[in-house]
Amino acid sequence: MSNIRAQISGIHGYVPDYILTNKELETMVDTNDEWIVSRTGIKERRILKGEDKGTSTIGIEAVKGLLKKTGTDPLDIDLIICATTTPDMPFPATANIIAKEVGANNCFSFDMQAACSGFIYALTTASQFIESGRYKKVVIIGADKMSSIIDYTDRTTCIIFGDGGGAALIEPSLNDNGVIDSLHRSDGGGEQYLHMKAGGSRRPASLETINAREHYVYQAGAAVFKFAVTNMADISYEIMKRNNLTGDDITWLVPHQANKRIIDATAKRMGVGDEKVMLNIEKYGNTTSGTIPLLLWDYEKQLKEGDNLIIAAFGGGFTWGAVYLKWAYNSK
Ligand code: UT7
Repeated sequence: MSNIRAQISGIHGYVPDYILTNKELETMVDTNDEWIVSRTGIKERRILKGEDKGTSTIGIEAVKGLLKKTGTDPLDIDLIICATTTPDMPFPATANIIAKEVGANNCFSFDMQAACSGFIYALTTASQFIESGRYKKVVIIGADKMSSIIDYTDRTTCIIFGDGGGAALIEPSLNDNGVIDSLHRSDGGGEQYLHMKAGGSRRPASLETINAREHYVYQAGAAVFKFAVTNMADISYEIMKRNNLTGDDITWLVPHQANKRIIDATAKRMGVGDEKVMLNIEKYGNTTSGTIPLLLWDYEKQLKEGDNLIIAAFGGGFTWGAVYLKWAYNSK
């Protein structure tokens, strides 16, 4: 193993202005604020409105803000990875579009699809490019315009998801901070519980698929909940154990924001108190690849150099994983 570590040197997020509240959802489907808050913890979510706006709109805003705040010249970026489940189109990659718009003309770029685990998959992948010594600046993005694949007549899914995302700059660490360990898993057996039926190569778009409403997220919520609770908690516990960490050693748990009850179960299994759990599900809902960078952005000012973070996620695929890192900087 190389002795170069990869650190997060900067983080920036973007959420659209439009706020879709639980109250407004009550006028769209048979639901109510009390049910949504008690079953999920969500109070509102953001929606990207406007013609021709896609996931790249979110990614471009996030990367522009990131480059500005870290004083990074876009021409110095070696690689851009965009984790998303809602690319602007099947091809070209949304990462290609973002790279062009931010002026990153000396890099290569590609998308990564791992649903809600996308950002941590991208973080681990980016870390390998840094640890190898080959690249010095990698930008990773986690962004989704979930409203583009949500059926707003389906109360079991439309209350959960929202639009948003963020970007992180990954560079070699100057000391012992940075990504220390990561653990990832996937299980294609999860397809039956969480998927979009049409629009891919197996079932291309047709009048029939549109009429059957097959271009939306299908989720067997209760089944996914069970897998999510078990796997997110287990993998977070496993990464702690193999790094000889107890709950007391952890400064922050950074959990994917799918459901407050899944987050609580993960924290409990790890022995981490509520005050150490990053949470913003109440204002953004589940932004899929966007939840982790949005958390780090929201909590950036509270993070201190050397803080021990466990980042954990679970999502469609199924995909899941956990990353252990030491935060690299005190924010100004
Ligand atoms: O991020 C990627 C991975 N995704 C997840 O991790 C999501 C995991 N799943 C969940 O978070 C939860 O399963 C949901 C929030 C989706 C649903 O919560 P639940 O507690 O599992 O509810 P349920 O599906 O078991 O439904 C309970 C009841 C049902 O009514 P009956 O059959 O008991 O009469 C549903 O029809 O709640 C009903 N229901 C609703 N009621 C009001 C379902 N959705 C709603 C709603 N408003 N929006």
